Amino acid sequence: MSFTPRVFSGVQPTGNLHLGNYLGAIKQWVRMQHDMPSIYGIMDMHAITVPQNAAELAACSRQTAAALIACGIDVSKSIIFVQSSVSAHAELAWILGCHTPLGWLNRMTQFKEKAGKQKDMASLGLYGYPVLMAADVLAYKATHVPVGEDQKQHLELARDIAGAFNRAAGAEILPLPEPMILPTAARIMSLRDGTKKMSKSDASDYSRINLTDDADAIAAKFKKAKSDMVEGISYDEESRPEASNLLQIYAALADEPLAKVSDAFASSNFSSFKSALADLAVAKLSPISARMRELLVDPDELDRLLASGRDRAAAIAAPVMREIKQATGFFV
Ligand code: AMP
Ligand code: TRP
Repeated sequence: MSFTPRVFSGVQPTGNLHLGNYLGAIKQWVRMQHDMPSIYGIMDMHAITVPQNAAELAACSRQTAAALIACGIDVSKSIIFVQSSVSAHAELAWILGCHTPLGWLNRMTQFKEKAGKQKDMASLGLYGYPVLMAADVLAYKATHVPVGEDQKQHLELARDIAGAFNRAAGAEILPLPEPMILPTAARIMSLRDGTKKMSKSDASDYSRINLTDDADAIAAKFKKAKSDMVEGISYDEESRPEASNLLQIYAALADEPLAKVSDAFASSNFSSFKSALADLAVAKLSPISARMRELLVDPDELDRLLASGRDRAAAIAAPVMREIKQATGFFV
């Protein structure tokens, strides 16, 4: 059976978005929205799988909405909404959870990392995170899910869960969603350690470029970025993780093939390469941060956009949920 193509993806509203989010995920979203109807969620229900400050969470959701619009998501075309404002996510997560064997969840590496040594202290929410993620995508029968590499395992699980639901229902009700992972910017690494991914949760702000950083901060962060003692700039993930990461960032920002960029800087030193990279990053990111600041001046307008996104998303999920509830035997 074939399903109408639809994109769904999401980002958690925890702190500022960074260059990894932008190059690994959001840049792809901006491109894909022209090819298929697209829904982009601000995933606050996922955010509370670790402790959050309630007073800050809603403000972060609004700020994330501003960032998505500033990056180029067109709300007249695509839907931007906050996950917790559409009840289908929680409802479907429950149903799908009843089709998910614990053995599948026990394989999830993100849970193992986040739960750490004290597994008994981790919450049911953190454990069920991938089930909620499957519900996010399947509530809209989305077929394509553009994400960074770190989410691949969760999406493979979403496919397994959709398959399990279909088998139990005896009908192909849900599509098996396809992860879309960019080959070049799938995993942008920390500026302080080329073997760790760039992340919102890194204690050092120097490890990441935030979309709200000004030109001085961007230049300072690239200048301080970890380098190595090898002559010239070349790509070799194994022996030169930092140089490779910076080349990857350059290529992704410039929309140029990695080989072309590494040829161009083959005989440069770190200092001149980093300064070219900082100039490029400022040129690409400063229009985004300027637009974000403009949007945040009018929070009421952002709230109106999010309310409209919520209604449009809920209208797409409603018939899907009816079908799923019927197939489950719920009284509808
Ligand atoms: P998160 O910030 O964890 O909500 O992630 C939002 C999106 O950004 C997901 O699609 C992630 O896979 C992607 N992402 C997060 N960090 C990185 C990174 N360092 N490199 C590439 N993609 C990333
Ligand atoms: N878990 C994703 C992340 O941290 C965010 C997310 C939640 C998501 N639900 C989703 C991404 C559904 C794609 C599809 O990056």
